Amino acid sequence: MKEKLEQIKKEALEQIGNAGALDALNDVRVNFLGKKGALTAVLKSMKDVAPEDRPKVGQLVNEAREEIEKALESAKTKMEQIIREQKMKAEVIDVTLPAKKNSVGHRHPNTIALEEVERIFIGMGYEVVEGPEVEKDYYNFEALNIPADHPAKDEQDTFYVNGDILLRTQTSPVQARVMEQGKLPIRMIAPGRVFRADEVDATHSPSFHQIEGLVVDKNITFSDLKGTLAEFAKELFGEDTKVKFRPHHFPFTEPSAEVDVSCFKCKGAGCRFCKGSGWIEILGCGMVHPHVFEMCGIDPKEYTGFAFGIGLERISLLKYEIDDMRLLYENDIRFLKQF
Ligand code: DAH
Repeated sequence: MKEKLEQIKKEALEQIGNAGALDALNDVRVNFLGKKGALTAVLKSMKDVAPEDRPKVGQLVNEAREEIEKALESAKTKMEQIIREQKMKAEVIDVTLPAKKNSVGHRHPNTIALEEVERIFIGMGYEVVEGPEVEKDYYNFEALNIPADHPAKDEQDTFYVNGDILLRTQTSPVQARVMEQGKLPIRMIAPGRVFRADEVDATHSPSFHQIEGLVVDKNITFSDLKGTLAEFAKELFGEDTKVKFRPHHFPFTEPSAEVDVSCFKCKGAGCRFCKGSGWIEILGCGMVHPHVFEMCGIDPKEYTGFAFGIGLERISLLKYEIDDMRLLYENDIRFLKQF
């Protein structure tokens, strides 16, 4: 019996010495000291031992148990110590490392340009209003005197949600919405996103931005329009900027014009920005068509007004000398950082 116990103890201590992890140690505990363990089995076989030998054997079993337990405990402590040290090493903080730099965000060139345009018109007493991007066919076309057979209404140019609802192709519907409210006089700009079924290239995108302008009051004339836009161009592009009105056609204005500004880069001499002409087109405008007034419930005999529509991207591309519109939508931080 004594030898058997010695053998069990030897095996247990050997296994403890070989255990490489806490799990393995636990296995040793279960295998020798557990309910079905080797040492426990010896205790269970006590009934076969002669009664006079029992105390002696019992003592030996206890001694063996104590020794195994001690060995387990010290192996466990050693192992835990090693694990702790490894963890400390892995989690060490290098306080000499330089801190991460927080980069400051940049405003998008479109945002900068829009804020500049808004600043100019707010300075002239205009209000900034907004209209819906998902718009009724009525406001986008009909109320603006654009007839049902107008080519702009073609599905090739306009994104339709259904027969009556579309993604607005221009910010002009905001004119109709504001006039319809009937609060006169009106002096407003309406910036916002517009949509057209265009292929993407350096000068086109299916979604871009416009800034609509509308003034309605008694005795508003084409001279007011000219003076306003001349002032706007000077503020935006510099004091020596000239404007040129070219006759044009828009269904919702009569007469209508397109406005060019003298090239701010070459001052009219001709360069790659103005394609050699000395002039750059920046907007469309005109006197509000009497029919549009009537549809919006304003008496065209009493009131007159002017409207204009500016392409925001045109302004930001020009002002910041960007030659590809796609750059404005890719949101590449390296590009945006420059503004
Ligand atoms: N809505 C026109 C367009 O998208 C631009 C425009 C032209 C707006 C003349 C106006 C205007 O308000 O009077 O091409």
